[in-house]
Amino acid sequence: MKSLRLQLRFLLPLAILLVAAAYITVPLVDKLTLRWFLRDLDIRAAFVADTLRNNLVNQPGELTVDSLQAEFNRAIRDERLLGIGLCDRAGKLLLHTPGFPDRVDCMGIHRPDRRNGNGLSWSQGELHFAAIPFEAGPFVEDRLIVLHDLSFVYRRSEDSRQYMIIFFVGLGLAIALVTVLVAHVSWRGWVAGTRALLRGESLLKPFQPPPELQVVASDLRAMLREMDEERRTRMANEAWSAERLRNLLQTELRGEQVIVVSNREPYIHGRKGEAIEVQRPASGLVTAIEPVMRACSGTWIAHGSGGADRETVDRNDHVMVPPGQPSYTLRRIWLSEEEEQGYYYGFANEGMWPLCHLAHVRPVFRQSDWEYYKAINQRFADAVVAEARTDDPVVLVQDYHFALLPAMLREKLPNATIITFWHIPWPNPESFGVCPWHEEILRGMLGSSILGFHTRFHCRNFLESVDRFLEARIRLEESTVTFDGALTQVKSYPISIHWPVGEEAEQRPPIDACRQALRDRLGLDAKQLVAVGIDRFDYTKGIIERFHAVDRLITKYPELRGQFTFAQFAAPTRSALDEYQLFVEQATKLADRINRRHGTPRWQPIQLIAENQDAEQVTSHFRGADVCVVTSLHDGMNLVAKEFVAAREDLRGVLVLSEFTGAARELDAALIVNPYDVERTADAIYHGLTMSAAEQAERMRSLRSIVSEDNIYRWAANMLLDAARMRRNERISARLSGEGR
Ligand code: G6P
Repeated sequence: MKSLRLQLRFLLPLAILLVAAAYITVPLVDKLTLRWFLRDLDIRAAFVADTLRNNLVNQPGELTVDSLQAEFNRAIRDERLLGIGLCDRAGKLLLHTPGFPDRVDCMGIHRPDRRNGNGLSWSQGELHFAAIPFEAGPFVEDRLIVLHDLSFVYRRSEDSRQYMIIFFVGLGLAIALVTVLVAHVSWRGWVAGTRALLRGESLLKPFQPPPELQVVASDLRAMLREMDEERRTRMANEAWSAERLRNLLQTELRGEQVIVVSNREPYIHGRKGEAIEVQRPASGLVTAIEPVMRACSGTWIAHGSGGADRETVDRNDHVMVPPGQPSYTLRRIWLSEEEEQGYYYGFANEGMWPLCHLAHVRPVFRQSDWEYYKAINQRFADAVVAEARTDDPVVLVQDYHFALLPAMLREKLPNATIITFWHIPWPNPESFGVCPWHEEILRGMLGSSILGFHTRFHCRNFLESVDRFLEARIRLEESTVTFDGALTQVKSYPISIHWPVGEEAEQRPPIDACRQALRDRLGLDAKQLVAVGIDRFDYTKGIIERFHAVDRLITKYPELRGQFTFAQFAAPTRSALDEYQLFVEQATKLADRINRRHGTPRWQPIQLIAENQDAEQVTSHFRGADVCVVTSLHDGMNLVAKEFVAAREDLRGVLVLSEFTGAARELDAALIVNPYDVERTADAIYHGLTMSAAEQAERMRSLRSIVSEDNIYRWAANMLLDAARMRRNERISARLSGEGR
């Protein structure tokens, strides 16, 4: 549409120019051809006169009026020769052929309007007269008047005028066609190039617009660079808070609707006797997304897994949360037992979970689980469409439960900005390739506009998997994938936590009270050293490895006997699965064995508490502990480590952190360990327990400055700002190609 308008702007002056050219040229050519024809007739008339004279001179006998008349009559058999007459010196018409106009003014031949060599000629209507001096026999100083039919000249002139007009119209159409084609091709090239530029593709292979447009392109590039630069500086300098995130949504995303999709819901309504009580699940994902949703006031779509969930929703399956201070909508999706078994326990947690974590547990892939996984992804995608108020909402898809959802959603809401965040690691292509549906999973995920992982390492693994299994264009420098004509930005966004400040931070119980509460809870006296682990009871968390480390610790440093306790709070999780039941059994047996080996009737080195702890309890345990142990065998980020740091404004407490967590890449002031290396892990715990207050403070200060700055609002803001930039660029390119939204 836009290119058509541009072309019209060019074609209109062209049409005017052609009409003007035709207006000047046609009469000119007309006049010229008429002149050529008249000159032809003059020559022809002279030739007729010459022929006549020769014939008469060669005739035997006297030249008389009759013989002259006969000769004249013979000559006019030529179809264009209408007549011949003879004027004498006195201007009298002496004789003429039949049909010759008898009122030819023989005197008029002295007023010629045209000379032609030795004679005179003129035209009258469709007749052409030529007066040629004639002398033969008795006829002296006479003039022969040769009369030609001029109508054929006019006819030819009319014909040539028509040809000229047809020629000009044809020329105009040909130029217009070529112009339209050239303009169209270069416009499309320009638009495609500009789009690529707006998507940031140009960085790898600079977009080369036609020379005349290069100025515009470099201006556009500079403008985008400036805007990004400005944004980065602003981002780097200011602290992120819920309030600032809310403002960002208003300014950068113009208050667009934000929809979150996750399997686990943030509030679970359950029954306790007659009463309904609300539970918060143990989930890193929920911990991270909940404060973002409070700030965005959007809609969160999740599986309604609680016993009293159905009783607490309205007829649209909506319930406002958090209870008591409602700030966003929770939309619940219902699953039958078989569906939950196939999609959640089966494909997600027996297939994808072990597939993505290098924890040496074999993934299990069943065809029936896969069918459920597909069907439930579709159900959630349909729910997003139903909840969307516009055709271009911002949708935040969470985790490995929904690998297929992005492409399903893209099909129904092509203008939506789909940000998928993968909360767990992404394996290398060899490991990933064992999944029988690896191609479908990649295709599904590439329906996302932005695909986020915790670390660059996981992004690289993903790009390598795409490279291995799909025909897609990958730009490694820009970390983008173009597949099926759509672009996905693959980027790392290290997730974080809500950082408590002001009143919220001050309202937490004092450190001394927490120390005492933890020791009371464990039945220890006040002087006991305590290290804690707080995790879901999951085989990826390295709980068995940390028990081995405690075993070694007590053996290696016997002075700790009776002085130190390791408290493992483990929230039961996915208990319906054999692998998890087996793991709980193994961990429990191991703890017992170690306790039997080192324990006394009044003291046990390990206390394993298989219970879910609520957020306040978790904070309190962290505030009361001397050391926090995180020994995951493989973990996307691990927010426990960050929660521990956030809980210690007293600058005490030591974090022992597995090098196989995403968090280890940021929190390098922690004591970093390889959990498989039992000896070093035991040493690290010992180092933590005996560390000077000054070293603790130095390390904790460094950790706190990282986590407080890179908090959950910065994480969300980074993704939403990228989404806003993408939407802005898409709008510009839509306008460029005339599809303006
Ligand atoms: C991990 C996953 C989350 C999940 C959480 C709890 O953090 O990345 O998606 O919600 O574990 O697991 P659950 O199966 O109980 O939701």
